Amino acid sequence: MVEFLYDLLVVLHFLGLASLIGGALVQMKARGERTINVAMVHGALTQVVTGLLLVAMQEMADSLNIDPDHPKIGVKLVVVVVVTVLAWINRSRPTVPDGLYYLVFGLSVGNVLVAVFW
Ligand code: HEM
Repeated sequence: MVEFLYDLLVVLHFLGLASLIGGALVQMKARGERTINVAMVHGALTQVVTGLLLVAMQEMADSLNIDPDHPKIGVKLVVVVVVTVLAWINRSRPTVPDGLYYLVFGLSVGNVLVAVFW
């Protein structure tokens, strides 16, 4: 049961990742007209919530036998907080500067790299 719940959270973590980066990717060609869309905002929030729950389960559920990697989690958390705050405060703007779009997109891809290569 605990394993199933953990795996379910991992699935949601992947869906959040898909939403955040997919929401950015569909606008790649819309130069000068890019926005922070709903998919990006909800994807970022999903990453924060599912990420923290995954770590909480790693800490608490002995049967999982996974030791949390605190430095890696710390870096991912700082990055996702920056992404989420930027996405949240700019979510209602009709367009955002290309630099802001690339910052959010780049930091999000950066978190995938940290997740996989660290
Ligand atoms: C934009 C934000 C994020 C992205 C793109 C992202 C991406 C990923 C990816 C691709 C994986 C699978 C690779 C792996 O298992 O090493 C993963 C796993 C994981 N992430 Fe994230 N993540 C994000 C945010 C977070 C945050 C904020 C936390 C914790 C506070 C977190 C905690 C975890 C944990 C614990 C796993 C391991 C799951 C497992 O395989 O057992 N993530 N993340």
